[in-house]
Amino acid sequence: MTPPTGPELALPDGFLMGASTAAHQVEGNNVASDMWALEHGPEGIVEEPSGDAADSFHRWPEDMDLLSELGFNAYRFGIEWARVEPEPGRISQAALAHYRAMVRGAVERGLTPVVTLHHFSSPRWFSERGGWREPDAPDLFAAYTRTALEAVGTDGGHVATINEPNMMALMYTLRRLAAERGRSAMDSGRQDGGAAFDAATVEPDARVTDVLIEAHRRSAAILGDAGLRAGWTVANQVYQAEPGAEEIAAACARPREDVFLEAARDDDWIGVQAYTRHRIGADGPLPVPEGAETTLTGWEVYPEALAEAVLHTSGIVGPRVPVIVTENGIATGDDARRIAYTRQALSGLARVMEQGVDVRGYFHWSALDNYEWGSYRPTFGLIGVDRATFARTPKPSARWLGALARSGRIPGPSAPARTVGTAAR
Ligand code: BGC
Repeated sequence: MTPPTGPELALPDGFLMGASTAAHQVEGNNVASDMWALEHGPEGIVEEPSGDAADSFHRWPEDMDLLSELGFNAYRFGIEWARVEPEPGRISQAALAHYRAMVRGAVERGLTPVVTLHHFSSPRWFSERGGWREPDAPDLFAAYTRTALEAVGTDGGHVATINEPNMMALMYTLRRLAAERGRSAMDSGRQDGGAAFDAATVEPDARVTDVLIEAHRRSAAILGDAGLRAGWTVANQVYQAEPGAEEIAAACARPREDVFLEAARDDDWIGVQAYTRHRIGADGPLPVPEGAETTLTGWEVYPEALAEAVLHTSGIVGPRVPVIVTENGIATGDDARRIAYTRQALSGLARVMEQGVDVRGYFHWSALDNYEWGSYRPTFGLIGVDRATFARTPKPSARWLGALARSGRIPGPSAPARTVGTAAR
């Protein structure tokens, strides 16, 4: 099933091989956040609230021990704004100390920390006052960034300002449409592939897009002044044009992806997050091809998405900005499929690296089975988590990927890079 790969690619010195998590999805009891409010409020969610999540708020040392023992040299995790600033202007010194300990704890274990300041969840007060629609949101995010410096330090580390701003701007549109239609915003749920499909049919909110870009710029400047390497992590939908639909695919990618990548041209790095593709025909987005294998989120299993996303991204940000793959993975209950998918994705990555794209890291999504924004059912983790005891069990994929990380090699290229769809522009 997996195409043969060529000789392995030796990774450049300093290449980051790790796994990612997001605060809300693993910490648990993120009660001051808007996501918690959403999960328990009238808008409701389709399956279940986040609850204790993976209890990583308390068990982060164990998570980091495992990642380091498995062979990884890096860990991407989040700082939760709602914990740092649970009420406007009230800073929790305890939360800052907690995250400072995490950053130090990672370094002590040989894991280079890549810290995300904002990963979908915001303080509840921030969203209730209008969230990313408000013109002063960048001021508030800048203040939070300055505060967060106390946790992330100033040691030249990588910091992501905002995760998937493009998906967030899209969520604002989805929530507005849902309110108009009188149903839950999350009914378009990620579990049935809905949000992925919506990503090609619904446009991100234009005002939110502008505010997010401004917030990113302000935050990145503060991080840069502090000697940190700032970037943001953008969802790549890999829009593939069917013959004759090139212009439609390009028009699709522009507001949903490219404007966010263009905003990264002065950054220190750009995060690529890719899972699957979206085929675009003359009449717009096409469904997953008949008979194609799909994941627990309903997405087409398409590991080539990673190479195509990296090419597309570097084509827009330009060669000056190095790429870090900050998310790539598969929701599956069959861990052998995770290994097969990841092997092929890495082989594609090796190919584009050999073609000269400056890629500095690969972070698998996710380190742990976690809360997939509405449900625990889609399991993305390299490490399984018992929902009752929180016991961690590394899966074979964790050992396989960790061994690759330790060896400093990834599966080699198997085929020439595909240059169709938006990747060709
Ligand atoms: C997000 C993660 C999410 C993953 C899988 C990305 O959109 O950054 O939070 O769990 O994809 O859906």
